[in-house]
Amino acid sequence: MRTEDRMSNAIPIPGSPHGATVWSTWIQSVEWIDPDRERRFRDEVRDILWPVLGLRKGGVAVDVGCGGGALTRALARWMGPGCTVYGIDRDANFLEYARRRAREERLSRRTRYLEGDARSLPLPDDTVDAVTSYTVAEHVPDSRRLIEEKIRVCRKGGRVSVMQASGESVGSSPTRSSAPSRRERELWRPLERAYQRQIHRRWGVGSGGTGMDGFRSAFEEMGLRDIMLDGFAVTHSFDDARRSSKEALQCLQAQENWILHGIQGCAALLAHPLPRGHLASLRRCVRARFRKQRRWIETGVRTWEFRVSLSWVVSGRVP
Ligand SMILES: C[S@@+](CC[C@H](N)C(=O)[O-])C[C@H]1O[C@@H](n2cnc3c(N)ncnc32)[C@H](O)[C@@H]1O
Repeated sequence: MRTEDRMSNAIPIPGSPHGATVWSTWIQSVEWIDPDRERRFRDEVRDILWPVLGLRKGGVAVDVGCGGGALTRALARWMGPGCTVYGIDRDANFLEYARRRAREERLSRRTRYLEGDARSLPLPDDTVDAVTSYTVAEHVPDSRRLIEEKIRVCRKGGRVSVMQASGESVGSSPTRSSAPSRRERELWRPLERAYQRQIHRRWGVGSGGTGMDGFRSAFEEMGLRDIMLDGFAVTHSFDDARRSSKEALQCLQAQENWILHGIQGCAALLAHPLPRGHLASLRRCVRARFRKQRRWIETGVRTWEFRVSLSWVVSGRVP
């Protein structure tokens, strides 16, 4: 394999002692996922989530698999002074970012970030009012174990919940497309195959979870009462009118960095070297695509690229 096609040692290889940071290193960068989650957990979803998650002013809640902490911070804002919201994740990079963001938003006194596994939560029995997670259960191979742990730490009368993004969405037909070109998609193919095999399958991404109905029946079987189902809309918009162009440019830069980093990372997973120039061509395609999008934002060109999807919640009361 040529030097160009090799990954730098800075990226932990799956299975190495740095395995716990595989998510932030290989699957979703915190600079990308966290602003996305901040948009999903805007204050307008508070009234929907308050009863179904079993939140309480000044209470204690847990966000399992908290990532960069956007939901943890939202819960801390909503539950107000005197509350404690634990954000738990096994990925130390996410937790470091989450602690910094909590400090910046003056939420440090209401939030505690703990490193730990979702299947063995670092909390005592019967102590919290509400335990939830967003887009985590579907990645924990034994999601029943995750629910048992949530029930264990929740006090009698408290609420255990699972939140997940549904795969379906409806959207506009944009007047300008920010999608990768056919050439770029072709160049990605060998890298994607290696990524699927060595990261997604090996690390159980998408291997758990049983869907809304599966969680509802598991909650019933596990003795939870007053089961509630609910959902909220999540909007994804390239030229979101509620976002400043500075924020949009920052998100775009985070995405471009992550994709370029991914090219370098995926190249190291390949069993056979790629033809000469393959990676350089792919980088050129990616940079050109992002350059075009940057220009649209800087010059105020609207693309009318809009999509709305649903996230669902299943919850139950601990008897
Ligand atoms: C799709 S991300 C969601 C992060 C966060 N809930 C959000 O919506 O921004 C999945 C998260 O689950 C964490 N995770 C996956 N399996 C885990 C496990 N067994 N124990 C603890 N965290 C886990 C990952 O580190 C990652 O932060």
